[in-house]
Amino acid sequence: MSSRGLEGVVVAETELSKIYGEEGRLVYRGYEIEDLAEHATFEEVCHLLWYGELPTREQLAALNERLVADRDVNSEVIDILRRLPPSTHPMAALRTGASALASFDPEAEDMSPEANQRKAIRLTAKMPTLTAAIDRLRNGKEPIAPSKDLGLAANFLYMLSGSEPDELNARIMDVAFTLHAEHGMNASTFAARVTVATLSDMHSGVVSAIGTLKGPLHGGANERVMEMLKAIGEPENAEPWVRAALERKERIMGFGHRVYKALDPRAPILKKLAEELAAKGGNTKWLEISERIQAVMREEMGKRGKPIYPNVDFFSASVYYTLGIPSDLFTNIFACARTAGWTAHIMEQLKDNRLIRPKAEYVGPLGKKVQPIERRG
Ligand code: ACO
Repeated sequence: MSSRGLEGVVVAETELSKIYGEEGRLVYRGYEIEDLAEHATFEEVCHLLWYGELPTREQLAALNERLVADRDVNSEVIDILRRLPPSTHPMAALRTGASALASFDPEAEDMSPEANQRKAIRLTAKMPTLTAAIDRLRNGKEPIAPSKDLGLAANFLYMLSGSEPDELNARIMDVAFTLHAEHGMNASTFAARVTVATLSDMHSGVVSAIGTLKGPLHGGANERVMEMLKAIGEPENAEPWVRAALERKERIMGFGHRVYKALDPRAPILKKLAEELAAKGGNTKWLEISERIQAVMREEMGKRGKPIYPNVDFFSASVYYTLGIPSDLFTNIFACARTAGWTAHIMEQLKDNRLIRPKAEYVGPLGKKVQPIERRG
């Protein structure tokens, strides 16, 4: 018997994160996600994932120094991005950019733990620079050089617009990065581990992961959530819109999860951020629409005996949009943050590597004989 979608199959042991699907709880290396979101920066979370513990002040300063120094992307890679048609999806452009980085990384083929550690930092530092450059180039603007004074998430906002974010926007982006940094054996992380388990290289693992995250059943859902909010347009349209979509047997983006059978713990954290942003900007429309969708889903899915809750993508959409980020860039933000988790998993996989090679059950015909071509058909 095959396990469709590998549901429930344990393919590795990990020390990186634990998901309590029934309770709606997420832990990175022993720390609850709520605690990290409130009391640690994304850079501290990177240290936790890569080195196993939250950093001391000195360790954080050393990591920050590297993450800042490695932010620049060389002009050859920017030129490759420049040549892509502006209609290229930003995740496709990121996949190309991440792949091109390997050609200019002197340690690209060095699979020693030390080189992989350095590449994890480099890739995580450069992803926001690539994403901001992709957005500016497709809009006919020149990329903005990274700031050396801002945190990784705040610098991303700066490179998009050219102006430094205020404290609230910077904090919100930083928390969003923390919430997206790591999440067990999700599809893109699995893709990264499968790739490096062949003893391919770290850049290849991250490129596989980017391609996998892009799909709307995974990271691509946040872009679709915003499309849905825009299509609904006004809070009073939410209820009939969702009921009609469910009637047509469509999936409501930003709801449901393979592992969580309760509320995704990242969703309420993002909702709180969305509320803070809405209060500051005076625009509560997207939040109101989201809340109405949530209420209809609670009622409708409850009636069908299939309770389905919002996932991380549901509220991240309105948060990013209110920060002025175009919706087709949302999945790239996810990729920027998740590079920390992908690279941590790649290093964990290589510590005790075994080729990942499952089997498929053959259900096709047997016993056929090759006929001369004129007798076929
Ligand atoms: N809207 C409506 N119904 C849904 C939804 C949804 N969002 N999600 C699941 N269901 C229903 C399915 O139709 C199915 O019903 P059925 O048993 O009558 O056929 C049942 O719930 C179980 O769904 P599966 O597809 O078997 O569950 P699976 O574990 O494969 O799906 C997934 C998980 C892909 C996330 C799904 O919930 C979905 O498509 N959600 C929308 C896309 C999304 O938000 N993805 C982001 C996930 S989080 C992340 O990757 C960051």
